[in-house]
Amino acid sequence: MTQKQRTSIGFIGAGNMAKAMIRGLIQSGFPANQILISAPNTQFLDNFTILSNNSALAKQVDVLIFAVKPDVLKSVILELKPLIQEKKPLMISIVAGISTDQIYHWLEDEKRVAPLIRAMPNTPALINQAITGVFTPTLLSATDLALSQQILSAIGSYIWLEKEAFLDIVTGLSGSGPAFIFYILEAMISQAIEMGLPEAIAKTLALKTCVGSANLALSSDKSLSLLTQQVTSKNGTTFAGLEQAKALKLAETLQSMIAASVNRAKEISTKTH
Ligand SMILES: NC(=O)c1ccc[n+]([C@@H]2O[C@H](COP(=O)([O-])OP(=O)(O)OC[C@H]3O[C@@H](n4cnc5c(N)ncnc54)[C@H](OP(=O)(O)O)[C@@H]3O)[C@@H](O)[C@H]2O)c1
Repeated sequence: MTQKQRTSIGFIGAGNMAKAMIRGLIQSGFPANQILISAPNTQFLDNFTILSNNSALAKQVDVLIFAVKPDVLKSVILELKPLIQEKKPLMISIVAGISTDQIYHWLEDEKRVAPLIRAMPNTPALINQAITGVFTPTLLSATDLALSQQILSAIGSYIWLEKEAFLDIVTGLSGSGPAFIFYILEAMISQAIEMGLPEAIAKTLALKTCVGSANLALSSDKSLSLLTQQVTSKNGTTFAGLEQAKALKLAETLQSMIAASVNRAKEISTKTH
């Protein structure tokens, strides 16, 4: 028996993440007339008219994307429960900190019949360069798998995770990561300005160094340590900077920054259970 083709996507929530995903889908050729959006106060987004009623949206779509704040998800799920139980749409939740178990519990679907995916994208989604960690506790049909991958690749790239617990680490690493990178770059730029470089030049140099280094590491099979060694000659300029970083325990500081963020993600997940 062939699976019914799922073709229309409904976004519950029209905020930053929904916007990024919708723009990505359109840019990647997904038909705009197969995308529906609902949110209570927002009326328009780009060329879309936004529905104010989640149930009216859910009746018309095959895929539901939950893109609301965590404190709103329960009421959204409870409102849509009868429709979800009946239609069993493919569900994708990008809501931080709410487990698939919790969602199935609200749906009274302890047997996990409705297909559900949980994803943690990051803000480079706004320019189609997100990296998304994604997990599903269900065995997806080939159609649902292909469709979910099409949706995720519309905002960048994605990595499937074997365990849902990894999503807390993903949240602390790549979810919060853009802010950490901006923070580090800001410190580097401010020092260059302080020492006399014009701001615009300092900013361009730092940002392009970040992008270039990341692309070099991504395209190389060498380890990050080896790539570091390759620009570090004994008693040279890079050596001087790295020695200072070691003396001030910069690696440990950055590690504790990631740990604090991951621990907070775990705390938020536990609170919502
Ligand atoms: N931003 C990130 O970097 C990021 C990364 C990964 C995951 N996430 C997750 O993505 C989710 C959305 O984040 P965001 O930054 O896009 O949030 P946001 O900009 O605050 O958007 C939330 C949207 O939800 C709508 N909404 C509120 N109550 C609703 C209801 N009862 N039914 C339907 N829609 C409702 C709001 O509509 P009105 O404005 O009309 O009230 C708004 O459009 C969050 O759970 C967040 O944890 C965000």
